[in-house]
Amino acid sequence: MQFEVFTLLPEVFPPYLESSILKRASERGLINVRVHNIRDYTRDKHHTTDDTPYGGGGGMVMKPEPVFEALETVLGLNAGPTPPELDSNIPIILLTPQGRVFDQSIAQELSQHPRIALLCGRYEGIDERIREHLVTDEISIGDYVLTGGELPALILIDAIARLLPEVLGDPTGAQDDSHAMGLLEYPHYTRPPEFRGWKTPDILLSGDHAKIEKWRREQSLLRTFNKRPDMLEKAELSKADKKFLDSLKNVER
Ligand code: ADE
Repeated sequence: MQFEVFTLLPEVFPPYLESSILKRASERGLINVRVHNIRDYTRDKHHTTDDTPYGGGGGMVMKPEPVFEALETVLGLNAGPTPPELDSNIPIILLTPQGRVFDQSIAQELSQHPRIALLCGRYEGIDERIREHLVTDEISIGDYVLTGGELPALILIDAIARLLPEVLGDPTGAQDDSHAMGLLEYPHYTRPPEFRGWKTPDILLSGDHAKIEKWRREQSLLRTFNKRPDMLEKAELSKADKKFLDSLKNVER
């Protein structure tokens, strides 16, 4: 999968992309992240990317010309048909606190595309014509305001990349994640069986896989019930799940 990132701060990307799982995914050709500096697409002597807002007020606004120029050049938007393998309907996503709030289902949806473009906002805002006539989607990573869209872009790349086939070492790795099933994940333990007097639950050492499976499911339900009851409304629940949840509701917490 190919990611085209457009930013005024290209230097923040390599340290994260060149570590651990994303590094391996790039080396194996499973993802390709290209980071484009919007400043390279300015045409004036001072390489201006921002200007004061019409109508006054504080802060600076990202100018439309270099942003349009960068995306049109890299994505070939004005250059006739894109090669079919790169999908001419490439999503152009603006990272902004005004977007739809990112979650696992949006990560799933975006992982189906062969190529996506991520536009990182900076300064106080971007010229509205970029939003109206260039971007096709707007995504926020939560209800708080950051200094720019760079960290949000990295978060999208990370969450999407780990859903792609073969990116995680364990092929079932992403299936049991918190959120993938609509529930929080069950607790994990590894060696030693006892640490500072705190024991691993006996059932996990029992070797009885059916019982372990049932315990894990119930722990997922219990955690979600206690920490994120809102998620239970959308989760796919079996009869046994519902019965277990009913039993929790009758217990004093
Ligand atoms: N840029 C600034 N804040 C942001 C947020 N919460 N999500 C996405 N992009 C942003």
